[in-house]
Order: sequence, then C-alpha cells, then structure tokens
Amino acid sequence: MKPRKQNPDQLGFGYFFPTGRTNFLYSDEAARRVPDLTSENLISLARTAEDVGFDSLFIADNWSGHQRVAEQFGHQSPAYHASLLAMALLSTTQHIGVISTLHTTHHKPAHVARMGATLDAFSKGRWGWNVVTGFSAAEAALFGEEFIEHDLRYTMAAEFVDIVLDLWSEHEPIDIDGRFYRAQGRIKLPRPVQQPTPPLVSAGASPAGIEFASKYCDQLVTLATTEAQLQSLDTKLANLTQGLRTVAPTPFSMAIVRPGDGEAEELYNQLLTSLNRDATFEIAGDVLGSIESARAMFNKMGPEQAALAFGSGQSVMQLIGTPEQVAAKLISIKRNTGSTNVLINFPLWNDTELRTFAPVFDILREAGVWSPPQTRDYSW
Ligand SMILES: Cc1cc2nc3c(=O)[nH]c(=O)nc-3n(C[C@H](O)[C@H](O)[C@H](O)COP(=O)(O)O)c2cc1C
Repeated sequence: MKPRKQNPDQLGFGYFFPTGRTNFLYSDEAARRVPDLTSENLISLARTAEDVGFDSLFIADNWSGHQRVAEQFGHQSPAYHASLLAMALLSTTQHIGVISTLHTTHHKPAHVARMGATLDAFSKGRWGWNVVTGFSAAEAALFGEEFIEHDLRYTMAAEFVDIVLDLWSEHEPIDIDGRFYRAQGRIKLPRPVQQPTPPLVSAGASPAGIEFASKYCDQLVTLATTEAQLQSLDTKLANLTQGLRTVAPTPFSMAIVRPGDGEAEELYNQLLTSLNRDATFEIAGDVLGSIESARAMFNKMGPEQAALAFGSGQSVMQLIGTPEQVAAKLISIKRNTGSTNVLINFPLWNDTELRTFAPVFDILREAGVWSPPQTRDYSW
C-alpha cells in the first residue's frame, strides 16, 4: 500500500500527453513539425517528460472518429486508447504518474474498477483516473446509445464512481441496486495500491461538473485563464466542500518557452499563420456546440470568431515567453490561488521541445515551489 502524498507548498506538473499531432492549437505547421505517433516516439516522450521533471502524464480520450477533416491533417488524431497507452507508458518509465481518461457513460463500473486496479497495482501506485461523462452525441451513437442529458450524465457518474470506489475498497462482496447501475460481488485482486484511492481528476466547468468534482476529485482541470478566475473557482469549491477541501483547480495551459525576449510569441504567431480553418471549425463545432461552459468563454464573439479563438489556443492559459516570464506566472499562481497542479500542453511536442521547460523548473526550484520528482516518493 502506498499513501498518496503531495507537498502543499509546491506545484505538481502534468504533461498533457499528445493524443494526436495537435491539440488546442490546430496549426498545420505544428502538425507537420511533430513526430509520428509511433510507440518509440511516445515512449521516448514519456521518458523525457519524466527526466525533465513532470510529475504526471495526462492522457485524454474520446471514442468517435467523426471529425473527418481534422483527422486528415492529424489534429487530435491519431489517438490511442488512453488506458492501454497508459499501461505502455507506466511500463517504460520509473516514477512519473499517468492519469488516463475513462468514461463513466458507455462503461460499467466493474470495467473501470478492474482496469484502474490493474494499472495502479502494476505500476506500484502511479495511476490516476480522469473521470469523464462524454460530451458528444456522436460518441453516444457509436455505442448505439441515446445521448444522455447533461446534468443526468453527472448524476449517473456519481453513482458509477461510488460503485467503483466500493469495488476498490471492499473485500467482501458488494450488493448495489442503484438507480442506474447494479453490481453484486467483488472484483478479483489486485486492488489499487494508492491509499485511500488513486487520484481522481475531472474537468467539468458547469455547476453540475463542479459539484461532482467537489465530491469525488482531487484535481479539477479548468480552462480558467486568469488568477481571478482561479480564485473564483477556489471559492466555489470551498463553499461546496465547506472548507474540507481536497479538490484543487488545475489550470490547463499551453506552453511555448524560448530563451530570447519575444521569441516564443513569434513562434506562436508563426504557427497561427497556418491555422487549419476547416479543422478548427469542425472541432470547435463539436466542443463549443456541445459544451456550454466552453462556449461561454467566447460569448461576446460571433461563431466564426469564437471558433478561431478556440482553435488558436485562446481557451487555455498561455505560458508563452522566456523561462523567467513563464516561471513568474507559475509562482504567482502558486502564491495567489489554491492550485496544487498545473496541466501543460505543448503545441509542438517532441523531446527537444519538452526540454525547453527545464529552465522553468530550475527557477521554480530556486523559489521553493517545485522539487524534482526523482527526489521524492510521489508523482502528483
Ligand atoms: C483539459 C481538458 C481535458 C479534457 N479531457 C476530456 C477527455 O479526455 N474526454 C472527454 O470526454 N472529455 C474531456 N474533457 C471535457 C470535460 O470532461 C467536460 O465534459 C467538459 O469540460 C464540459 O464540462 P461541463 O459540461 O461540466 O462544463 C476535457 C476538458 C478539459 C478542459
């Protein structure tokens, strides 16, 4: 058994692992400049992330391949099944954590309980679960299911997670006859080794999503792009948990780090000149069309402008600048908000690009808000 730990004075860093040639910045040049998603390249990337100092890898996942134009250019594609990929990455790294996405909708609790227990036990306590309900009708159709209404999906997810937690912790058979799920018996050993459970992460921004996170999760990934927005989420979570907080907002960000003043901004602008408008409209249509909280970020814009802003990475916190500028922003987040973790997407992903973050970690270490994961016995 391995108690789950985190140093409250420091930030943990998740690397948003590539689930396609690009994510959150649909630039054709970025798609061309990244390596193929081969097992060798992905394993090398996971090892580099571990070596550079990331605490965890976060693997997002969706099921349906209905975004045909985006797919053609490699935007959000190809993507391996998150938890199968997680096993490969956990098996070829030493201490980095791997958070993989598993849907509550479309699965049964015993599936997820068993997959999670296997991943956590096999990795000696390095797995976490990104709990998602699925936001797309196309995905539900793939399973031959009706698309379930938004808040009901979260109600179902709560019952689902309760059963998974029981299956993980109970050694005697359980007997649950719920509103949505039934489960009788017990899963085979192994059980997760992290205590009390592996970390649970979610990314809902709606009232139902935030309430779900406040009950079940350790991290709530958020598209908050400013400290004021993070503080407002802190307050909402504190009210919901009545001060008994375990969940903290994890800002989702996009990093381009270059040593010279203005160089990172120049690269960002250069990538934007090849923004794939068709792919952007397709993906934004899905995300902004299905997720009200994402749409609300751009509610002062017309639909075309909103799609282009979304496709340019403007829905996420930007860590674009010199190591000093990026580190200053992160130190300020640590000092002024309740965030314990930051999740980072690199629009250009390869081993060299990941290493551009090493000088940022050096500055954070000096400031006392980060320590190398190699020197401690936890990955979050
Ligand atoms: C950084 C990030 C990663 C996400 N990853 C996934 C994912 O892998 N699969 C998925 O179905 N939804 C994913 N989502 C969507 C959320 O799970 C959620 O459906 C969305 O944020 C809308 O939540 P809301 O309806 O409560 O506002 C992600 C969201 C964010 C911000």
